[in-house]
Amino acid sequence: MEMTAAASLTVSGLTRKFGAFTAVDHVNMAVSEGEVRAVIGPNGAGKTTLFNLLTGHLRATAGEIRLGSQLISGRRPHELAQHGVTRAFQTTNIFPSMTVHENVVTALLGVSRRTFCFWAPPDQGIERIADEALDLVGISEHKNRKAGILAHGDQRALELAIALAPSPKILLLDEPTAGMSPYETQRSVELLRKIWRELNLTIILSEHDMDVVFNLAQKVTVLVSGRVLADGEPAAVRSNPEVVNAYLGGGDA
Ligand SMILES: Nc1ncnc2c1ncn2[C@@H]1O[C@H](COP(=O)(O)OP(=O)(O)O)[C@@H](O)[C@H]1O
Ligand SMILES: [Mg+2]
Repeated sequence: MEMTAAASLTVSGLTRKFGAFTAVDHVNMAVSEGEVRAVIGPNGAGKTTLFNLLTGHLRATAGEIRLGSQLISGRRPHELAQHGVTRAFQTTNIFPSMTVHENVVTALLGVSRRTFCFWAPPDQGIERIADEALDLVGISEHKNRKAGILAHGDQRALELAIALAPSPKILLLDEPTAGMSPYETQRSVELLRKIWRELNLTIILSEHDMDVVFNLAQKVTVLVSGRVLADGEPAAVRSNPEVVNAYLGGGDA
């Protein structure tokens, strides 16, 4: 895969309403190039809504999103993928009857079709990139198996390969370890760390498992009721009394 330049992401005044209810409320967030940022907060805090805004799956009611200096709010998911913003889905995004390799190739074609000759020479280039992505996430051995018969952990790895294959500048992961066993969670933290080391990219993830957050993230944003309650380095956030009260005090941290 290509090594792309990681990009910064700046969110200002980002707001999303559903009717009278404000799910994301004037969120400001500045993520540096190459940073791993965790977004944490209780259920219903607006994390998934924020991710859907960042990937263009939802339109903002107000506010801006910039990739580097470029305004990207209002763009659709495939346009954002071309700009280097991709996500691995919380819910499954793979075609079970296609092979693992075909899934990655199909996803790459989806991104490349809308660009002009970006992936030239098309076929072999795409096949090779798909192979590299599968190798990176450690599921090459399953390449020719149908995706639907993979173990849960390997399906999650495939989703990651699909998100990484277009060489994103920013990778968004909404609760990447949700539903995983402690062993799978550990494997997936190691994998994300390896990916972050080997590819030059910025990662933004939402996460409920505080061990994962403190093992991966350089900075943490705490969202409560759609608003940023605190952000900063993990140790500072963890000892912030407001955060402890509103969230970490709950017992699962
Ligand atoms: N499409 C929608 N329509 C109405 N309300 C929504 C919609 N999506 C999310 N919400 C509400 O927005 C709030 C934030 O949800 P969500 O972003 O999923 O939070 P989190 O991912 O932090 O658990 C919740 O109260 C949820 O019910
Ligand atoms: Mg969520």
